[in-house]
Amino acid sequence: MKISIISGSHRNPSQSEKVARYIENTIRRRKPEIDTWLFALADNPLPLWDQSVWENDDAWTQRLAPLKQELASSDGFVIVSPEWHGQAPAGLKNFFLLFSRFELGHKPALIVTVSNGDGGAYPVAELRMSSYKNNRICYIPEQVIVRHVEKVLNDNAADNIPDADAYFRERIDWALDLLQGYAVALKTMRETTQIHHDRFGNGM
Ligand SMILES: Cc1cc2nc3c(=O)[nH]c(=O)nc-3n(C[C@H](O)[C@H](O)[C@H](O)COP(=O)(O)O)c2cc1C
Repeated sequence: MKISIISGSHRNPSQSEKVARYIENTIRRRKPEIDTWLFALADNPLPLWDQSVWENDDAWTQRLAPLKQELASSDGFVIVSPEWHGQAPAGLKNFFLLFSRFELGHKPALIVTVSNGDGGAYPVAELRMSSYKNNRICYIPEQVIVRHVEKVLNDNAADNIPDADAYFRERIDWALDLLQGYAVALKTMRETTQIHHDRFGNGM
């Protein structure tokens, strides 16, 4: 099994990437049998989508090929999004323009959102509403909203609020267990179901 983690912040460094790396390390420590791949949108490694993406442009093909390979070989995803002005960052929405049902389709994903205050609900709602239609990524019902992120999940225990830090570590463990269960179940579903249909390439 392979779980890929997407860190949606353009900032470098960012709290979202801190959380994404914590999640990757947690999977490696608790479930060494699971392969991981972390892709950070720090410093915007992907240009904005343009028409040539759909015209077999060489530069785009070469840029996307290794990423498509990593995503297509994944069984599940963790999508980490900061809340920026009440939204998911543009780079993360661009990610969902560039990758399709052939990489993401009918695979489970855990949404993890990040706020340095009491925010974090808006990108959950946005991702659930408008990032899955054509690529058919399957967001699981559980989600994690890491509020006051600067005070939790830090390597240095002195930087953490102990109760909040323990709560998020336990909650992330449980959410990852659920993601693994969905990944097992949906792999069987993909293997036993015709998941692509020539006439229904896009969702309604
Ligand atoms: C452009 C921008 C807009 C932001 N807007 C919000 C917001 O609407 N709600 C919120 O809770 N935090 C907001 N924040 C603060 C983030 O919660 C904070 O930067 C946190 O560390 C997550 O972002 P990061 O992963 O880029 O570090 C914003 C940050 C930036 C850079």
